[in-house]
Amino acid sequence: MGRGTGFGKVILIGEHFVVHGVPGIVSAIDLTAYAEVKKIGEGITIKDERKGAKGYTEKKRTQQKESIERMLKTMGIPLEKTFLQIRLGGDLPSFSGIGASAASSAAITRAIAQELEMNLSDQRINEIAYEAEKAYAGTPSGIDNTAATYGGLIWFKKNLTGGPNIIERLSIRKPVEIVIGNTGVVADTKKMVASVAKRKNQNPEKYDPLFKEAERLAYEARKALEDFDLRKVGRLMNENHDLLQEIEVSCKELDYLIDLALEHDAFGAKLTGGGGGGCMIALTPKKELQETVATAMEKQGFKVLRAKIGIQKI
Ligand code: MEV
Repeated sequence: MGRGTGFGKVILIGEHFVVHGVPGIVSAIDLTAYAEVKKIGEGITIKDERKGAKGYTEKKRTQQKESIERMLKTMGIPLEKTFLQIRLGGDLPSFSGIGASAASSAAITRAIAQELEMNLSDQRINEIAYEAEKAYAGTPSGIDNTAATYGGLIWFKKNLTGGPNIIERLSIRKPVEIVIGNTGVVADTKKMVASVAKRKNQNPEKYDPLFKEAERLAYEARKALEDFDLRKVGRLMNENHDLLQEIEVSCKELDYLIDLALEHDAFGAKLTGGGGGGCMIALTPKKELQETVATAMEKQGFKVLRAKIGIQKI
């Protein structure tokens, strides 16, 4: 049997903007997807045992199938002659926004490679997971699969001309607690990414300055993280969320959870991932603050994850 894992992630700064070449900062979290693959059965079967948002598995089934077909094609494995039984689990729930799809792609790719005795480098795993991610995100930047494959805290800039992306490992003094709040709304990243691209094309007067601003935020946040100035990181996350509202990817449930986190003294809060539902994150250094913010959300009936950013290895 082949086995593999992939990291979940949160985007600290820059989702959507990264698709268009603006740098972004992503952190893997201490939750992972896990896959087991056996070379038996008929065709390709997927048993998805991840805990998840209601309706996620059903809504994403077609995209999941397409992603595995893309993965096999990229690995040079002929679909018609392949019999694989895939089981998906791990402690990363299948919520929108925390890289569940990319983490599962990295995990499945690794498990298939192990089962079929293919020796693949992390770079190759990342390339394959990127191809798979296209099924979920249409024209992904590559930030999610990069975090899913390598883990850690990463500065990411997409190369828009097809060359290698800039992937730099950042380090912070110590891991920091965050709260991930799930709106419970299953979002379609592909639609969200396409809608931003359309509005950006139609309205450059509005969008160009917002993209410039996103770039400034990314550079400032990188410095603030490296200086371990968490108050500043939090303020920049808030500013980033304002921009995400401007490009119309937030929604009332996300804004509600973000306001709730800030009312309970989170250092900063923003949506994470594709938006339109899915998850938000709040920066809540130290266990006590994390607990206060998490409990406030749970009291309102929302599902919450307590996680950490800046972890290099699990
Ligand atoms: C999704 O986690 C992040 C997006 O920017 C899409 C991408 O970068 O591939 C919305």
